[in-house]
Amino acid sequence: MSELQRIRERYEARDASAALSGFWTLANPVVLHLAQERERAVLTLLTRHAVDLAPARILDVGCGAGAEFANWLRWGAQLDHLYGVELLAPRARQAHQAWGPRVVQASGAALPFADASFDLVLQNVVFSSITDAGLRAAVAREMLRVLRPGGWLLSYDAARTRNRDPHFRDLPEAELRTLFPSLPLELRRLSTHLGLLRRVHAALGERGMVALELTGLFKTHLLALGQKA
Ligand SMILES: C[S@@+](CC[C@H](N)C(=O)[O-])C[C@H]1O[C@@H](n2cnc3c(N)ncnc32)[C@H](O)[C@@H]1O
Repeated sequence: MSELQRIRERYEARDASAALSGFWTLANPVVLHLAQERERAVLTLLTRHAVDLAPARILDVGCGAGAEFANWLRWGAQLDHLYGVELLAPRARQAHQAWGPRVVQASGAALPFADASFDLVLQNVVFSSITDAGLRAAVAREMLRVLRPGGWLLSYDAARTRNRDPHFRDLPEAELRTLFPSLPLELRRLSTHLGLLRRVHAALGERGMVALELTGLFKTHLLALGQKA
C-alpha cells in the first residue's frame, strides 16, 4: 500500500469513528488549553516579525476540515487570500463549506500552485501523519517552492511525543531543520504532554494545567516560523 493510501485510510477510519475523532473539540478543556497556548505563541511570533496578514496570500497544507481557517480569519487574513490543500476529498469539501476558502483536494507533495505564489505557507500537525521520509521531504520541497522570497513558513508539529502509534511519527527539531534547510527557523516548544495534561486536568482542573504550562516542562511539540531568503 502506498504511503498516501495508508494516510487516506487512516483518516477515513478516524472520521468514521466518534471514539477516534471525538476528543479533538474545543468543548474539551484540555484541547482548548492547548489551542489557546498555541494561539498566543503564533500571534506573538507573527507580531514580533511584523507579518501583515491582511494582504497575505496564505496556504494551509493538509488543512483537514479547516479548523485553522477560523483562526486565520479572526487574526486578520482575508477570505479571498486564504487557500487550503487536503488529501481527503470529504475533509476538503467540509473545510470549504464551513469557512469559505478555496480548498483543493491534492497531495502536499504535488501542490497545484505556481512557484512563489504565497506569502505564508503553513502546516499544522501534518508531517506527523506522514511516516515516510521521502513523502515528508517532497511535501517540504513543495511548501518551499510555492512560497515567495521574503514569505513566511509556519509549522506546528509533534517533536518528541514518543507516541508508539505506527501511523504517527514525531518530527524532531533536527529533521525539521533538514526539511527546510534554507530557512533560519525560530522555534518555540509548546504543548504539554497530552497524557500528563489529561491527568493534571482530571485532578486539578484548569489551574493545574496553567501551572504545569508555566513550568515549561514536558513540552512535546515545536512551533517554527522562518522567512524565505
Ligand atoms: C492531524 S490532521 C490536521 C488537520 C489540520 N491541519 C488541523 O490542524 O486541523 C492531518 C491532516 O493532514 C492531511 N494529510 C496528510 N498527509 C497529507 C498529504 N501528503 N497531502 C495533503 N494532506 C495530507 C490528512 O488527510 C489530515 O487531514
